[in-house]
Amino acid sequence: MDVLTDQSLVLSDREFQRISDAIYDHCGINLHAGKRGLVQSRLSKLVRRQGFETFTKYIDYILSDEGKEEFVTAVDTLSTNLTFFFRENQHFEYLRQDYLPKLIANKSKEANKRVRVWSAACSSGEEPYSLAITLAETFAQEINWDIKILATDISTRVLERAKMGTYDIERIEPLTAQQKQRFLVANNIEGRKVFQVRRELTDMVRFRHLNLMDAWPFRGRFDIIFVRNVMIYFDKPTQAVLVKRFWDHLADGGLLCIGHSESLTGIDHSFRYVQPATYQKA
Ligand SMILES: C[S@@+](CC[C@H](N)C(=O)[O-])C[C@H]1O[C@@H](n2cnc3c(N)ncnc32)[C@H](O)[C@@H]1O
Repeated sequence: MDVLTDQSLVLSDREFQRISDAIYDHCGINLHAGKRGLVQSRLSKLVRRQGFETFTKYIDYILSDEGKEEFVTAVDTLSTNLTFFFRENQHFEYLRQDYLPKLIANKSKEANKRVRVWSAACSSGEEPYSLAITLAETFAQEINWDIKILATDISTRVLERAKMGTYDIERIEPLTAQQKQRFLVANNIEGRKVFQVRRELTDMVRFRHLNLMDAWPFRGRFDIIFVRNVMIYFDKPTQAVLVKRFWDHLADGGLLCIGHSESLTGIDHSFRYVQPATYQKA
């Protein structure tokens, strides 16, 4: 394979349009004109790795049956997976201080001891494990509760990391000393010190691949849905469809948490505003 220079990999208008249309159709991510530089720099690495001379040949390939797997890699590369433990901690504090104690009181009355949570764009797992820690701590004195967290993402690459549940020391910084002690165990992977999430948490969380644009194969309804820092990549009509679907998949009184830089403004919905980025089906 020839080593290609950066100049030979300029993304033309048509190539940018083709790739952004394909990504939008597949997963709703809106790669608007401002993302052109990002698309060019991130995709050019893949084009080179696959040995193609132009973006056009690479795009033809990933849109063909033969290139399906590489298309997944392109989606992974173009999406942003930034996440961290207890990100936007106001949500976890609200759960701890307000929502979960009330949920416990209400469900105990009805003898319904099930709690279902969905982390709908879970990235490498920090969000669902933060939920698991919050639930484990809040339910510490409770017995016989059936608590499950479903964690889904479109990216198979981040899901693999999430399932492993091992994090470098800098990643676990937001946890308190007690949380580290109770929920993590130090491990060594190829000479690197990492922290492994303990069984108590991994038993609560199920990771699954799910594109939010596809059908959702769930039977029951959720008490809590976290869908944070993903709708920002979708346009308003796509967000509106999703918000309606989240409503349908929440139990009465259920909670919807979105990212703090996201908003339901301009979307027709029936949620009750609780606090910034927090809405209730009530
Ligand atoms: C910035 S991360 C947010 C992670 C976490 N929710 C948080 O707030 O820290 C966005 C995640 O959305 C996922 N994503 C993007 N489009 C998606 C889609 N159509 N369906 C499911 N997940 C998607 C990406 O793979 C990425 O892991």
